[in-house]
Amino acid sequence: MSDHRDEVHQWLSTHLGIELASLGGHRSARLVESLAGVSLDADAESLARDHACVGETHFMRHPDQLGLLARHLRRVNGASVWSAACATGEEAWSVAGVLSRHLSDFRVLGTDINPDFVAKARRGRYASWSLRGLDPEDVPWLRGTPKAVEVSDELRARVDFDVWNLLTGPRTSRFDAVLCRNVLLYFTPASRLQVIDHLVASLRDGGLLLFGGLDMFDVDHPLLDEHVEGRIRYYVRRSEVRPEAPTRSSSAAPIERRPLPPSKPPRVEPPPPSPRASAPLASIRVLAEGPEWATALEQLEAHIVQEPLDVDAHILAAMVADEHDLRDDAAAHARAACFLAPEEPWPQFLFGQVLVRRGSRRGLEHIRRAATALQGRDPSQPLPHALGLTGRHLQRMLDGFLEPA
Ligand SMILES: C[S@@+](CC[C@H](N)C(=O)[O-])C[C@H]1O[C@@H](n2cnc3c(N)ncnc32)[C@H](O)[C@@H]1O
Repeated sequence: MSDHRDEVHQWLSTHLGIELASLGGHRSARLVESLAGVSLDADAESLARDHACVGETHFMRHPDQLGLLARHLRRVNGASVWSAACATGEEAWSVAGVLSRHLSDFRVLGTDINPDFVAKARRGRYASWSLRGLDPEDVPWLRGTPKAVEVSDELRARVDFDVWNLLTGPRTSRFDAVLCRNVLLYFTPASRLQVIDHLVASLRDGGLLLFGGLDMFDVDHPLLDEHVEGRIRYYVRRSEVRPEAPTRSSSAAPIERRPLPPSKPPRVEPPPPSPRASAPLASIRVLAEGPEWATALEQLEAHIVQEPLDVDAHILAAMVADEHDLRDDAAAHARAACFLAPEEPWPQFLFGQVLVRRGSRRGLEHIRRAATALQGRDPSQPLPHALGLTGRHLQRMLDGFLEPA
């Protein structure tokens, strides 16, 4: 790494939490180049933000998660939700729109580190690209033409926006739910752990924490219980264990925030499961997360032509295709991964899941094979070809699929 690249890498991870390499070859090279000759203590911050922030987002992204959120908050009076790293606000407005169908009293806070994004979020006016072809019936809280929409006044009264760096710390208020989707995949393992601590400290007991569809990192926090519902993985904050009963005098003192138990022993981020394929696939994975996901799929196809036996590439292609409801492509790649690594649980599970969603009964057979293949594995270790997912995660997913009706 050149000195300058090294410096940018260091600055980026310290100030934004972002791992330079996670931005992909093209974007990271452009960022390093644009910061050449600029003092990183001066006003490089806005420059780095402008270049480093991947602001891809759209209305009603991951709709199944939004449905889960509405179900979780259905009985909460005056529910509060934080859309952390909301980019230009479509996520925060979508949360408010979905909740407005179920709740009469709620508030949503959207925050992002990028002040330009936050300003746009506050304006609440968007072009058709933010809709990605959504049916107007799915977003009745937007008004306007298909080319230009604006959020309704009723929603404006429920949503606030703020500039906020996730590394800063927890918010001062506690939320019933926090969404932090499609941002921590760009973070260094250490910053990711730090931010997860902050998110947990910003949640009420019983509060819901949601990450994005391709955020496959290990979330192992002493105050979080992991749940799996269909293809959604989510976390619920458990009550803190109070070390001792309060004495008369201590209970009289007002307590602002109960401290988190130390998040140590340090949770060690698992190494990537397959170093061989990780470098090119890591940048394709970042691309897959953004508007150019179709290009990412094309790149994966091209890569697979060169390396037809690369199980990780098939797995990633299956997951991206599945995320975008290209079920045939997802099935073809998951099948190939299963064929190439029949002993491994994740390819079996992925293929099974795709088949089940296509209505094929053969899916359950593969899911059972995944369960068998998982037996005897260390649950804390990342599984081969599973993009960082551990045996424990897969076990929870299997429990969701195989538990008796
Ligand atoms: C890909 S967008 C995700 C938007 C939205 N959550 C979604 O899933 O559609 C990632 C956002 O994270 C923001 N971001 C990056 N680093 C951040 C940090 N340290 N603190 C807060 N936001 C950050 C970026 O500005 C960008 O808007």
